[in-house]
Amino acid sequence: MEERIRALREQMEQRLSQVDSKEKLAAFWQDFLGKKGSIADLMKGLGAVAKEDRPAMGKVINEFKAFAEKQYEAMSEKMEQMEMAARNRLEAVDITLPGTKRPLGGLHPLSIVRDEMINVFAGMGFEIFDGPEIEDDDHNFTRLNVPKDHPSRDMQDTFYLDSEWLLRTQTSGGQIRVMDMEKPPIKVLSPGRVFRSDSDATHSPMFHQMEGLVVDRNITLCDLQGMLDKFVKQIFDDSVRTRLRPSYFPFTEPSVEVDVSCFECGGKGCSLCKHTGWIEVLGGGVVHPHVLENCGIDPSVYSGIAFGIGIERITMLKYGINNIGLLFENDLRFLKQFRE
Ligand code: DAH
Repeated sequence: MEERIRALREQMEQRLSQVDSKEKLAAFWQDFLGKKGSIADLMKGLGAVAKEDRPAMGKVINEFKAFAEKQYEAMSEKMEQMEMAARNRLEAVDITLPGTKRPLGGLHPLSIVRDEMINVFAGMGFEIFDGPEIEDDDHNFTRLNVPKDHPSRDMQDTFYLDSEWLLRTQTSGGQIRVMDMEKPPIKVLSPGRVFRSDSDATHSPMFHQMEGLVVDRNITLCDLQGMLDKFVKQIFDDSVRTRLRPSYFPFTEPSVEVDVSCFECGGKGCSLCKHTGWIEVLGGGVVHPHVLENCGIDPSVYSGIAFGIGIERITMLKYGINNIGLLFENDLRFLKQFRE
C-alpha cells in the first residue's frame, strides 16, 4: 500500500507540472481526488488490509488526500492569478499612446480676408451694417442716382425677381438703408453677397463686396485716400502705395478707381500688374449730392465718401489665385492651404 502511495505521489507531481489550463486542472482533480479517482481507489483497497493495520493505513491515505487537495488548491490559485494577469495584459490601456486625431476645420479664404478687412476698418471706427440680399429696385438703383432707363444700369447684369425686386448687384444699396435710419456722423461698413449674371475666370454670378460709407461735415476725397491707403498697407504690404484714377459711378462725384502699386514687382512691371506697375483694387468717390438728398441729408451741410471693395478680388490678389472658381468649388486640397 505504501509503495502504491509513493508511486501515486510521483505520478501526481508529474501531472501537476503539466497543468497549464483550467481543463487540465479539472482532469487532475477527477483522476486523483474524484469519486472514481486513485485516492478513492486506495480507500476501497483498505478492506484488503489487515485489520490491525487499517487505522494507521487509513491515516496515511487521509494525509495523502490532504496533501493532494493542498496541491490542487495551490495550483488552482496559481491558475487564477495567471488568468487574471493574462486578462490585465489584454485589457491594458497604454495612456502614453497618442489619441485619435480628428481633422480640424478652418476658415474659408474669403472669410479670412473679409475678417481681416473688417478688422482694419473697425480700427478706424467703422460699424457693421448687414443689408438684405433680396433688394428692391429703389435701393439698388433709383435712389443711388440710377433712375430707370439710365444707361449705367447696363454696367451690371441684374437678376430680376419681378419688376420691383431683384438680387442686389452691389452692396451700395446699404448706403441708402443706413442713411434712412441714421443721420451724420455716419461711418459704416457693409460686407455681403452680391449677384450678377456674369461668369468667367474672374467673374462669378455670386460674389462678395464690402461697402464703406462715411458722412459728416467736411469729408473730402482726401479722407477716402487716407483711409484706403491705410487699408491696402495693412492688407498687402507696408510698402504699397495708392493712386486714384478718375472713373465713373452714378452715385459718386467725383468717382475714382483706386490702384495699388504692384506688390509683386514693386512697381517695375510684371505679369500680375500687366507691366503697368499698378493694380486696380476698388472703386469709390465722393457721395453724389443727389444720393444725400434722396436720404434727407442736406448736401450743403454734409458731405460723404463711399467705396466698394470686391472681397474675391482682394483675396485673389493677396494669395495669387488666378481663377475665381477655386473660391467656390470647395475642393479641400485647395482650402487646406489656408488653414492657420
Ligand atoms: N458698387 C460699385 C460696383 O459694384 C462699387 C462702388 C464704387 C461702390 C464706388 C461705391 C462707390 O460705394 O463709391 O461696381
